[in-house]
Amino acid sequence: VTRDARRLRGLAEAADALAGDLELPSVLDRIVAAAAVATGARYAALGVIGDDEMLAQFIYRGVNEETAREIGHLPRGKGLLGLLIRDPRMVRTDDINSHPASYGFPPNHPPMTSFLGAPVRSGGRVFGNLYLTDKPGGFDDADEESILVLAAQAGTAIENAQLAERLQSLAVQDERDRISRELHDGVIQALFSIGMGLESARGLIHRDPERVGRRLDEAVDALDDSIRELRNYIFRLRPQHAASMGLQRGLAELAREYEVNAVVRPHLDLQPGIDGRVPDPLVPDLLQIVREALSNCAKHADASRVTIYAAIHEGWVEVAVIDDGRGFDPASPRVGRGLDNMAERAEALTADLEVDSAPGAGAAVRLRVLAEE
Ligand SMILES: Nc1ncnc2c1ncn2[C@@H]1O[C@H](COP(=O)(O)OP(=O)(O)O)[C@@H](O)[C@H]1O
Ligand SMILES: [Mg+2]
Repeated sequence: VTRDARRLRGLAEAADALAGDLELPSVLDRIVAAAAVATGARYAALGVIGDDEMLAQFIYRGVNEETAREIGHLPRGKGLLGLLIRDPRMVRTDDINSHPASYGFPPNHPPMTSFLGAPVRSGGRVFGNLYLTDKPGGFDDADEESILVLAAQAGTAIENAQLAERLQSLAVQDERDRISRELHDGVIQALFSIGMGLESARGLIHRDPERVGRRLDEAVDALDDSIRELRNYIFRLRPQHAASMGLQRGLAELAREYEVNAVVRPHLDLQPGIDGRVPDPLVPDLLQIVREALSNCAKHADASRVTIYAAIHEGWVEVAVIDDGRGFDPASPRVGRGLDNMAERAEALTADLEVDSAPGAGAAVRLRVLAEE
C-alpha cells in the first residue's frame, strides 16, 4: 500500500466514524487511530480540555497500559502541549527536546523525538489538541494536511456532542416544567379540595354524623379518581420507551401497561408480520396515538373489552383501539386535549383519523395512513 493510499484510507475511516452515530469517545478514538495510520507516527493522542482548563479527556495510541500506569498521570500541559492550548497553532518539530517550549518528560515516559501537534477547534473555540510523535524520518507537509483535517473533524464531533447535551438538558427541563404544571393544575388541585372537604366535615362530627358519613364516602371516591388520574398520567408520560421497540412489541408493551392501569387486558389483534411492513418513522406516532386512545379508555370508558388492532392492506396501515364501554358523542364540545392531540398528530402524518362512538355504544379510534414502501 502506498503512503497516499494509507493516508486517504485513514481520513476516510475517520470521516465515517464522524458520520455514523457513534458516541463521542469512540469517534475520538477512531480519529486518533486514523491520525497514527495516516501519518505513520508511532504515538498519537488527543486531549480535550475541560472548563477548568485541565485535561478532561485524553485518548492515546502507542503507549501501552503498563507504561501509562508507570507514568502515573496524564500530561499536565507544562511544555509543548500547554503551548498548543495557550497559542492554538500547529507545531511541527523534528526534536521535541530542543523546542523552546519543551519542559521535558516525566519519569518512565518513553523517549519521543519528532512531534506534530494541531489545536482541535470548531467555531472559534479551542477544545483541545491532537498530536503525533515519533515518525521515522520526521513529519512532512502531507502529515500536516492530514492532522488538520482530523483535528477539524474532532472539533466538529466535540462541538456537536456538547450541543446535543445542552439541547437534551433543555428538553428535560421543559418536560419537568410541563409535568409540574400539569400535576399542579390537575391532581394536586383535586387532592387539595378533598382535604378541604374533610376539614369541613370535622366540624360536623357531633352535629350531623350522617352528613359526615356522606362526605367521607365522597372523599374516598374522589381519592379513587385521583389515583386513577395519576396512574393514567404516568402511563402517558412514557412515550419514547415503547417507541424504540417496533410496532408489534410497542403495542404489546402498551397493552401490558394498560392492564396494570386499568385491570382489563386489551386484546391484541395484529396482522402477522406487520412489524416489517410498517415504515419505522411512522411507529412512534402510531404508538403515541394508540397510547392516547388507551388512556381515554382507562379514564372514561369503563370497558370490559378493549381491542388493539393493526394491519396493512394495499399499502394502507390501519391502527385502531376499540372498546365496548360507555361511549360518548364525538361531536360534543370537550375540555381535554387528548382527542385534539391525536387529530393534530394524524394531520401531521397526512393520515385519516376516525373517532366512532355514541353514548352507550363503545368507542373506536381508527387511524389510516399510507405506508410509503
Ligand atoms: N373511549 C372513550 N370512552 C368514553 N368516553 C370517551 C372515550 N374517549 C374520549 N371520551 C370522551 O371524550 C372526552 C375528550 O377526551 P380527550 O380529548 O382525550 O380529553 P380528556 O381525556 O382529557 O378528557 C373525554 O372527556 C370523554 O368524555
Ligand atoms: Mg384523554
